[in-house]
Amino acid sequence: MQFLSVALLAISGLGSFAEAAKKCKCIPGDPCFPSQATWNAFGRTLSRPLISNQLPFASVCYNTSSNFNPSQCDAVRREEFDASTLASLPNTVQLINFEELAVNGTVLACPSDPAPGDVCHQGRVPSYAINVTTVTDIQKTITFASKYNLHLVVKNTGHELLGRSFGMGSVELFTHNMKKIQFFDSFVPEKAPRGTPAQFAVTIQPGVNWLELYTAADQHGRLVAGGYSVGGTVGAGGGWPIGGGHSILSPYYGLGADNILQFTVVLPDASHVTANAYENPDLFFALRGGGGPSFGVVTSLTYKTHPSIPFTGAFYTATANSSESFLELMTLWIQHHNGLSDAGWGGVWPFTTDTLFLTLTAQGSPPTSPTAQSALNSFFNESANLAGVNVSLAITVPYKSYQEFFIDNLVDTSLGHGLNYSSFHVSGTRVHSASWLMPRTLTSPGNATILAKAITTAIPSGAPFMVGGGVAANVSTDAAAIAPAFRRTISDMTIICPFNETKSASDVQAAKEACHQQILPVRSLSPPQADGGQYLNEADLLEEDWQLAQWGTNYPRLLSIKKKIDPHDLFIVYHGVNSEGWDSESVCKST
Ligand SMILES: Cc1cc2nc3c(=O)[nH]c(=O)nc-3n(C[C@H](O)[C@H](O)[C@H](O)COP(=O)(O)OP(=O)(O)OC[C@H]3O[C@@H](n4cnc5c(N)ncnc54)[C@H](O)[C@@H]3O)c2cc1C
Ligand SMILES: *[C@@H]1O[C@H](CO)[C@@H](O)[C@H](O)[C@H]1NC(C)=O
Ligand SMILES: *[C@@H]1O[C@H](CO)[C@@H](O)[C@H](O)[C@H]1NC(C)=O
Ligand SMILES: *[C@@H]1O[C@H](CO)[C@@H](O)[C@H](O)[C@H]1NC(C)=O
Ligand SMILES: *[C@@H]1O[C@H](CO)[C@@H](O)[C@H](O)[C@H]1NC(C)=O
Ligand SMILES: *[C@@H]1O[C@H](CO)[C@@H](O)[C@H](O)[C@H]1NC(C)=O
Ligand SMILES: *[C@@H]1O[C@H](CO)[C@@H](O)[C@H](O)[C@H]1NC(C)=O
Ligand SMILES: *[C@@H]1O[C@H](CO)[C@@H](O)[C@H](O)[C@H]1NC(C)=O
Ligand SMILES: *[C@@H]1O[C@H](CO)[C@@H](O)[C@H](O)[C@H]1NC(C)=O
Ligand SMILES: *[C@@H]1O[C@H](CO)[C@@H](O)[C@H](O)[C@H]1NC(C)=O
Ligand SMILES: *[C@@H]1O[C@H](CO)[C@@H](O)[C@H](O)[C@H]1NC(C)=O
Repeated sequence: MQFLSVALLAISGLGSFAEAAKKCKCIPGDPCFPSQATWNAFGRTLSRPLISNQLPFASVCYNTSSNFNPSQCDAVRREEFDASTLASLPNTVQLINFEELAVNGTVLACPSDPAPGDVCHQGRVPSYAINVTTVTDIQKTITFASKYNLHLVVKNTGHELLGRSFGMGSVELFTHNMKKIQFFDSFVPEKAPRGTPAQFAVTIQPGVNWLELYTAADQHGRLVAGGYSVGGTVGAGGGWPIGGGHSILSPYYGLGADNILQFTVVLPDASHVTANAYENPDLFFALRGGGGPSFGVVTSLTYKTHPSIPFTGAFYTATANSSESFLELMTLWIQHHNGLSDAGWGGVWPFTTDTLFLTLTAQGSPPTSPTAQSALNSFFNESANLAGVNVSLAITVPYKSYQEFFIDNLVDTSLGHGLNYSSFHVSGTRVHSASWLMPRTLTSPGNATILAKAITTAIPSGAPFMVGGGVAANVSTDAAAIAPAFRRTISDMTIICPFNETKSASDVQAAKEACHQQILPVRSLSPPQADGGQYLNEADLLEEDWQLAQWGTNYPRLLSIKKKIDPHDLFIVYHGVNSEGWDSESVCKST
């Protein structure tokens, strides 16, 4: 009977049995999932011990778990909000909701405060992890995962805001321990034509984070355009650059992706190749904004370095005594916004329902841009004159380097000014995000009233990053895969939406929806069909036009490169290139 139906399927052209099986990845519990003996044999070929049957971080807190251990549970409770710890372990990510699996109405989770008798659920935590230290480890893992049709994921620091570093039934490549850094005074990409100018550069392995790279560069008198994260714990060699990478230094040096001279990468066919402007240029295009790990696993990348120079910081805090006064303050700020960018400022402008904070930087101390100080003063002065607005801080501070600014305001914040970014700590909590790349035509004086109204009515707190304009806007939209909207924006409106522990999958969905609703009014003023877009590293989980929002007119080229490089869909991730037709956990293909 079974034979007959298979034969009928084949005859009617609906697909063979083998193809039907290939519709889903093999996950633990499936007959096709490798046996422990097979895993052990594979493990013996790796540079580090294979991590088998990996349990969630807090499993030691459950008396129903095989590894129950009250003193280790105390250690979990001391460390569970520490970003560096969460980066350094293979069984944790930064946002705990992405360790949890909302399925069939409930949330399968393993929080650290169980009631006696509770069960620790695996959730989205990978059950096998490969602690890679060599390129060969990565090649062997890709070959093994392809052979057994596994759901392979890549975890570096685990900061991913769409949870793609973990996944249901997944097996993990853990890149955190690849941390080499090498500086060059005269770097020339491989296969570059004779006469190609040499550049100052640094080559890093994928596990290096921003604090480590900024610090090493500073010791060489150099600067790299990188991320703004609290503590510098976001990776410099993984998801950030492959997602395009926005930096408050981008107005002077370009986006993260614009600063990359070369990658080495293990492709889904397990070959190890170089990609730069001269060698594999399609892959080079795709890796600069196409999103990780869709085009393979990056094993090194080379950034341009820039001379370390002094910077000026500007810090501002103003609180309004009514929603009308706050709307006036926001309107005034937007009227000045593009002008301040053009005058040489980049930075962040977080706000709540009544307070606006500015943390800005300009090159030079005093600023080298001749209009920087006067443009800033006129905003400071005009806002101080608004009725019902209390400007409690409006200062500029000289820094001998960007490093000094970064350490004082984001790492050892005791010397910081204005908004204390240590209070932005989200590691170990549950958070969804949403964002929108607002074109500069929208953040212009002519739209100030309408945009301020949209922001103040819909968004209770946000942190727009002033990362566009200047050099970032001076690159053609098809030079790299990153959203063309990045070339038209000055500020990326980002929102984080915390939510509480819940056992109900519909609560999780409602929390996503609430975050999505906050961004919609701003999005509707510049939809992806017009000039707006989305930074895929800070994407909205419910963005319906995700291809257009994340890649705009670059998507068709990206999709054809992806189909060529990954014909068997090894690296499919939620809202990643060529993920159409896959379920939200990238386990089964429905079409
Ligand atoms: C608290 C917090 C602060 C943040 N601050 C900023 C900020 O200031 N600026 C900013 O631009 N972004 C920021 N982000 C977003 C951040 O850029 C993205 O989450 C980014 O993808 C993180 O990359 P990662 O390698 O550190 O993290 P991971 O979560 O480990 O990786 C992110 C993605 O890249 C893939 N990946 C990782 N390594 C590789 C590799 N070697 N090859 C191929 N694919 C790989 C992973 O599979 C995953 O899909 C922040 C996020 C959080 C949670
Ligand atoms: C866990 O602890 C509870 C309460 O002390 C107890 O009732 C239960 O039997 C324990 N379970 C196991 C598996 O030890
Ligand atoms: C969800 O329910 C379906 C139908 O009962 C079941 O087949 C599936 O295994 C469940 N999924 C999980 C992850 O428990
Ligand atoms: C991974 O390997 C590194 C380098 O040898 C080692 O320090 C680390 O403890 C290993 N991590 C795990 C979780 O096994
Ligand atoms: C404008 O602001 C600057 C610095 O904040 C201050 O020195 C100056 O006196 C102000 N000018 C006016 C006209 O208020
Ligand atoms: C806000 O401040 C203004 C100016 O000082 C004042 O006139 C107004 O009454 C205040 N409004 C509220 C709600 O306190
Ligand atoms: C303005 O804010 C500062 C700091 O919060 C506070 O000390 C001061 O009293 C406020 N001034 C007015 C007029 O409300
Ligand atoms: C900011 O907060 C951190 C942590 O709470 C604290 O250590 C630091 O001193 C604060 N910075 C300032 C300037 O108050
Ligand atoms: C307002 O923003 C929209 C969308 O970016 C733009 O098309 C329009 O020209 C802007 N209007 C003004 C008056 O600046
Ligand atoms: C933009 O590029 C042009 C041509 O290369 C150059 O002359 C100009 O200085 C650049 N502007 C900025 C802001 O980088
Ligand atoms: C989470 O729970 C706390 C304590 O019960 C509550 O104060 C807070 O408002 C809740 N947050 C959200 C986002 O629901």
